[in-house]
Amino acid sequence: MHKDVQSILISREKLESIVKSLAKKIEKDYNDKEFVMVGLLKGSVVFMAELMTKINLDFEIDFMVASSYGGGTESSGKVKIIKDMSVDPRGKDILIVEDIVDSGNTLNFVCNHLMTRGANDVKICTLCDKPSRRKVPLTPDYCGAEIPDEFIVGYGLDYDEKYRNLPYIGVLKRSVYS
Ligand code: IMP
Ligand code: MG
Repeated sequence: MHKDVQSILISREKLESIVKSLAKKIEKDYNDKEFVMVGLLKGSVVFMAELMTKINLDFEIDFMVASSYGGGTESSGKVKIIKDMSVDPRGKDILIVEDIVDSGNTLNFVCNHLMTRGANDVKICTLCDKPSRRKVPLTPDYCGAEIPDEFIVGYGLDYDEKYRNLPYIGVLKRSVYS
């Protein structure tokens, strides 16, 4: 275990089974649909890479970058699109892949943005959810795990751009950020 990690919240094995079961649900729901899977960089990369290989359908992928955090552990609430989709979302069914939903500000903004750009439908697949922290009403369509109000890292999730490479999800020691 990394020295800055207090405990492992979701093991590598558990992550594999979570991803498999999400992929199965998505495969079933999108069986007769064309869709674009859109990952929010950078946190979703590990999750999305593993998820997409387990969905046995034809689909496009794309990426967006949105920011609401500075360097800290709290959302600033002001969301900016740093990089938009390069595929034209008009008339498309979009499945956004995210690492974690916290206040809900990021996804709320991104979903509205894509609907404004003319998407037909926008759904959300998140690996983790902290429902107790929500500031705007938002319910992910697919969720891997509901987690308590702790700051977590690994499997794509970072603190100050570190720990994304950890193969598990762990709770970050408070001493690292307070
Ligand atoms: P929201 O806009 O408050 O929902 O924040 C969502 C974004 O905040 C996620 O995409 C993550 O990048 C980041 N985030 C929220 N909670 C955590 C956490 O516990 N660990 C790492 N990143 C987090
Ligand atoms: Mg993120």
